[in-house]
Amino acid sequence: MNQTNTQSNNKTGKIFLVGFGPGNAEAMSYRAREAIELSDVVIGYSTYIKLVKDLLDGKEVVRKGMTEEIDRCIEAYDQAKLGKTVSLISSGDIGVYGMAGPTYEVLLQSGWTPDSDIEVEIVPGATALSACASLVGAPLTHDFCSISLSDLLTPWPRIANRIDAAGRSDFVVALYNPKSGRRTQQIVEAQRILLRYRKPDTPVAIVKSAYREAQNIQMVRLDEMKDCKIGMLTTVLIGNSTTFMREGLMITPRGYANKYDNITGEAKQGEKAGRSLTMGLTGWKAVVREYMNTEPHHSLRDIARHFDAPMEQIIEAISEADNDEATAGYKAIAIQQDNIQAVLEASQQFGKLRAVIRAEGGAVSELMISSADFEQRGDWLNIENEHFHCHINWSQVCSAWFVRHDTKLMGIQFFNQHGDTVFNLSVIKRDGSFPEEIINAYDQAWNNLGQNNPGQNNLNQQASAVNE
Ligand SMILES: C[S@@+](CC[C@H](N)C(=O)[O-])C[C@H]1O[C@@H](n2cnc3c(N)ncnc32)[C@H](O)[C@@H]1O
Repeated sequence: MNQTNTQSNNKTGKIFLVGFGPGNAEAMSYRAREAIELSDVVIGYSTYIKLVKDLLDGKEVVRKGMTEEIDRCIEAYDQAKLGKTVSLISSGDIGVYGMAGPTYEVLLQSGWTPDSDIEVEIVPGATALSACASLVGAPLTHDFCSISLSDLLTPWPRIANRIDAAGRSDFVVALYNPKSGRRTQQIVEAQRILLRYRKPDTPVAIVKSAYREAQNIQMVRLDEMKDCKIGMLTTVLIGNSTTFMREGLMITPRGYANKYDNITGEAKQGEKAGRSLTMGLTGWKAVVREYMNTEPHHSLRDIARHFDAPMEQIIEAISEADNDEATAGYKAIAIQQDNIQAVLEASQQFGKLRAVIRAEGGAVSELMISSADFEQRGDWLNIENEHFHCHINWSQVCSAWFVRHDTKLMGIQFFNQHGDTVFNLSVIKRDGSFPEEIINAYDQAWNNLGQNNPGQNNLNQQASAVNE
């Protein structure tokens, strides 16, 4: 065994899991080079072995094919059990779509534990997405995600859902394993899904063999991506909604424009250096209320869409208004969890109701009902009369709110765990206004069943405060 081996304590064998970076010697970390030098045996995919050939003199080298990943792990463990120091090598970072995971799986299945006599050390490396990014500008300077388009081990619907979620959430996206001889349509599908959310001219960098001899870069638009030359050694970087191309560089802004008029200038009005934005976690709901006041004709759904937030959070923002703070005439209060059932019974006092039910596909039903039509059976809340049968999955309902507007609305909204509306009920006006006795019944339900939180006072208290 190599005498310079830095094996610690009484362990006998050692496995280095080495990420050697994108491919060239300069981008390899000091520790990656040292790990290979310290090793008796180097195991890897034959292409990777070629990339580190200068470090292999006097070492036992085990070359494996592309499909022999688990064999590589077993071989590493078998060699380490003989007391040898072994480097299992991978390009980029061995923990990113690399051999670190399968190796631990094999080891643990074989009864190995971190306390056993074989030490394992992971040596990190520059992964393809950062190596490729460095060649095209600064595309990853805001939130990004990586998605592998390989469906060899992952079902396509899961991959498609991840692409959709990344598109919807405005992540910069790095696509690993974008295309191979057999897998040619995955990139076409990825483009189609992302174009639901991104503009056709969104910048895309297609980087092949970064930091290797065959390095090649194509800078294109998202709508051109599928027709570009893409292969097994390519990583594709797709910009978010703010990414731009200038002077041949792909840049994703860090977000300074949200706070400063000019990247070197003073903070914008209301913003402070070193502090969360006014639209940060603690401030954004106040911005919602301000917006509602400046756009009083917007519906609650318009507001939710404008802020790209679930409806329940908009209702919560209304409920958190101070007593003297206007919210375009709206008021809201959460219904206590154990009162959600009781609110259905209370709604029988509200006369004729409008139930609004939205199907996932986009259709909206507005049903004129009486809450006497409600019937609960198991998980289902059924609304049945001679004109229609409507079945609402009551088990989806996690929270409910009273929401009212001075002139427009007296309602109850029911939400699922994501804060999306399951359905809502609203009182129907008679001759253009809400009848007095129904206002009283609604106020009473509000006061009895609503949560008594400090930002949201009892309706009678609010009324008396106004009278004073
Ligand atoms: C199995 S993954 C291995 C990823 C590797 N562990 C890493 O961290 O970069 C193989 C994919 O990585 C990407 N890749 C690896 N090396 C690359 C390079 N030098 N240039 C561009 N893409 C590369 C390609 O998308 C390729 O299909």
